[in-house]
Order: sequence, then structure tokens, then C-alpha cells
Amino acid sequence: MLKIRQATPKDAARAAHICIETAEGIWRRSPKMEKITSLLFSAYYITHESHNCFVLEDSGKVVGYILCSADLHRFLKSYRGDIFRSIAKLSPLWGVACLFVPAKYVLLHRHYPAHLHIDILPPYQSAGYGSKLMETLLQHLKAQGVKGVCLSCGADNTRAIKFYEKYGFTAKLNAFGGKLMVKKL
Ligand SMILES: CC(C)(COP(=O)(O)OP(=O)(O)OC[C@H]1O[C@@H](n2cnc3c(N)ncnc32)[C@H](O)[C@@H]1OP(=O)(O)O)[C@@H](O)C(=O)NCCC(=O)NCCS
Repeated sequence: MLKIRQATPKDAARAAHICIETAEGIWRRSPKMEKITSLLFSAYYITHESHNCFVLEDSGKVVGYILCSADLHRFLKSYRGDIFRSIAKLSPLWGVACLFVPAKYVLLHRHYPAHLHIDILPPYQSAGYGSKLMETLLQHLKAQGVKGVCLSCGADNTRAIKFYEKYGFTAKLNAFGGKLMVKKL
């Protein structure tokens, strides 16, 4: 039975797994790179802001998520602290690169203080669960009075771009190899 629930820090290992399984290209180049990918795109949210994250569960097993930070200052503190240290231990070069990842969110922060990542394991895609996760998060953010949300998407990920457009996200700018999309709440 499938259900959506708020995430907890206990979901960290499954979130890292889903983050890696749904990544492509350089993000899956080696086991070390896969670890860096999960540190960059899932670790912070589940560990520090699980109250702003939701997971899709199939009979108790997490098979998808929508991860969100509604607090850029908290996010930056962690990125420059524990996330940076963990990545730099694996690769000093990626440690430095990691410091630039939040730059796009800083650029958009004034009108779009929250940002998100959504990934669903392949067998559960295109069945409406992404929509349910997105609706759950958008309602949750609106209820907290968050005024806008942004995200970064691979410029060639046409399927995801179509998905975001359906939810009223518009492309703001192309930067750092991706498309930055925004939505006012
Ligand atoms: C992108 C993703 C989150 C969408 O979730 P989903 O559950 O598959 O999407 P839904 O079934 O809720 O579909 C919602 C809309 O998304 C788009 N969409 C979904 N699957 C699609 C597909 N196979 N091809 C084209 N558009 C698609 C459509 O606009 C669809 O609306 P419609 O059903 O009215 O046509 C999910 O497919 C996924 O995790 N993909 C792999 C990882 C990824 O790309 N994450 C985003 C990184 S930026």
C-alpha cells in the first residue's frame, strides 16, 4: 500500500539510495562520486529539515521523496560546515565545488526562499505520485507563509521540466549547467 508521510532523519539511508538511483551522468561515475551526489542533494534536507520533506512509502519502504529547505541560512550553515567537511574528506576538489552549489539559491533568495528536490524510483514514476508529493509540499510551504520556492533542473531533463511547468514553475535563468525554475506561493 502506497502512502505519503512527513520524512524523519531515519529516512536518510533510503533517501541517499533514491538520490543515487535516479541520478545520471557524472553523478554516478564511481562509488565515490555516488556518495558525493547523495551528500550534495539529499543529506542536508533529511538530516536538518526533515519537517519540510515528504516521502512516498510502499508497504513501509521509501520509494520516492520531495526534499525541501525553507531556511536558506540554516542550509548555508550546514553546507559550509558538516556537508562541506564530509565531501572534502572524499574529494578536496568537490569540497570546493560544493561551496558554490548554494550560489543559485542565494541569487533567488529574496523572492524564493525555499528550494526543493524531487525523485521517485523508476517503477513508481508516471503514476501520479510526483504530483501528490509536489501538492503536499506546496500546501505545507503555503501554510507556513513561505512566499516562493525554486529548484534547479538539468537543462536536458525535458520530462522533469514538463512536470514542473505543470505546477506553475517558470524558468528564471540558466546557470551552473542547469535550468533554475521558480514559483511564487
Ligand atoms: C520528475 C518526476 C518527479 C515526476 O514524477 P511522476 O510521478 O513521474 O509524475 P506524475 O505521474 O505525477 O506526472 C505529472 C506530470 O509530469 C509529466 N510527466 C510525468 N511523467 C512523464 C513522462 N514519462 N513523459 C513526459 N512527461 C511526464 C507530465 O506533465 C505529467 O502530467 P500528465 O499526467 O497530466 O501528463 C519523476 O518522474 C522522477 O523522479 N523522475 C526521475 C528523477 C528526476 O528527473 N527528478 C527531477 C530532477 S530535477
